[in-house]
Amino acid sequence: MSSENPIKNIALGSDHAGFEMKEELRSWLEEQGYEVLDLGTHSAESVDYPTYGRAVAEAVTDGRAERGVLVCGTGIGISIAANRIAGARAALCRSGLEARLSREHNDANILALGARISGIEAAKDCVEEFINTDFGGDRHARRVALLDA
Ligand code: RB5
Repeated sequence: MSSENPIKNIALGSDHAGFEMKEELRSWLEEQGYEVLDLGTHSAESVDYPTYGRAVAEAVTDGRAERGVLVCGTGIGISIAANRIAGARAALCRSGLEARLSREHNDANILALGARISGIEAAKDCVEEFINTDFGGDRHARRVALLDA
């Protein structure tokens, strides 16, 4: 996989249910040379997913990170939270194909994963496709623009 616009930095966030997966993804991304902005949570103690969905969405929309990856139990709550922030386009994905198409068609800037649904290898597939796929533009650009119209 290759991208014409390789990205360098990625914001990560999770609640307690996604904590372990978020930690694994952080080490894996750092080993590959990505700069990771880890916005928590920082332990398995129970917390509320909207806090972290919002934190990562703000980091992506204000330019502190080029992309975001969020993890909660299902990926549902944290993606809903992220999508409340203007300019955030969070896509809940279970497969590399969905992650690739979320980039090509939707210009998704945040990937949401469910640690109680997806295993770590499927999650890594999603992250790889999400990081390495460029937006398709053209007809998709018109539709993405309409999301904010
Ligand atoms: C936490 O128990 C769980 O509700 C949360 O991680 C997430 O799955 C919500 O959508």
